[in-house]
Amino acid sequence: MTSPLRRALAILNLRASKKWPFITRRFPYRSVGRMQRAIGPSLSASASLTMTETALPDGDLYDIFKSTTGVHKWLHYLPIYETTLGPLRCRPIRMLEIGVSCGGSLEMWRRYLHPGSVVVGIDIDPSCSRFDDPSRDIHVRIGAQQDLTFLRDIANELGPFDVILDDGSHVASHMAESFRFLFLVSLAPGGIYMAEDLHANYWTDYRDSKMSFVDLVKWLIDAMHAHYLQISSACELEVDAENGRTDVAVPVATLLLEKLEVYDSMVVIHRARQHKELPRSVRR
Ligand SMILES: C[S@@+](CC[C@H](N)C(=O)[O-])C[C@H]1O[C@@H](n2cnc3c(N)ncnc32)[C@H](O)[C@@H]1O
Repeated sequence: MTSPLRRALAILNLRASKKWPFITRRFPYRSVGRMQRAIGPSLSASASLTMTETALPDGDLYDIFKSTTGVHKWLHYLPIYETTLGPLRCRPIRMLEIGVSCGGSLEMWRRYLHPGSVVVGIDIDPSCSRFDDPSRDIHVRIGAQQDLTFLRDIANELGPFDVILDDGSHVASHMAESFRFLFLVSLAPGGIYMAEDLHANYWTDYRDSKMSFVDLVKWLIDAMHAHYLQISSACELEVDAENGRTDVAVPVATLLLEKLEVYDSMVVIHRARQHKELPRSVRR
């Protein structure tokens, strides 16, 4: 396709592809005004963010990162990984990374995690199968992160995973599809789901659906609180209340979501170790 036609489609917020349906809609971020109204005029006042020569991260992961080739990460992710994954290094875990590219990140996790750990990478690019190295417990499978049959096969063959990291296409609908399936079906109890490069959610080329992955994260916060929609005051959940509630209907997600940590371009979603219990209110 000629680039003038491609440019014309872009003006119309359409995107061409060689696969069915050939032309798809794109959904630019249009919520700057709403965001500013929500945070208020003082927090919306103009400021500038500058890039400076800051100190480099320290820690084992940064040392390993520096001496690994074929890995591409934003520098500020490294301390987040270290905080999140550091406590898991004392035991063998199973980690799945969506997006293999040049194989460097699989190598980095292999070197950082407990030596008994299993590192699995998936990628749509068939050439990534060259990084499959079962003798070192590095497994690579080829397929699309939005293909639920493929994800089910991965989960059956190599899951459940203690850690899942989405560094794949960064396309909004793909990220959502992968999360909805993998978080429920193939993340172990107490497991951690990380999605990175969330900034792509603000770039039109990656927004193929009205709801971005960041929007989904905001909905997860609502899902985490769904039991409060079923009551109208803390009295109903009070310990020793005469007519207190002992259970309320919630979405499954409410039982599984332990906590969400949101960073610049990264979200870390913790799956509860056991099904969460209804919180109890105490009056003394
Ligand atoms: C950002 S790179 C991964 C970088 C790697 N994790 C690292 O840290 O060096 C993204 C990768 O996702 C792959 N990819 C793109 N679309 C995909 C999809 N729909 N499903 C799975 N992988 C996809 C690309 O082929 C590419 O290798």
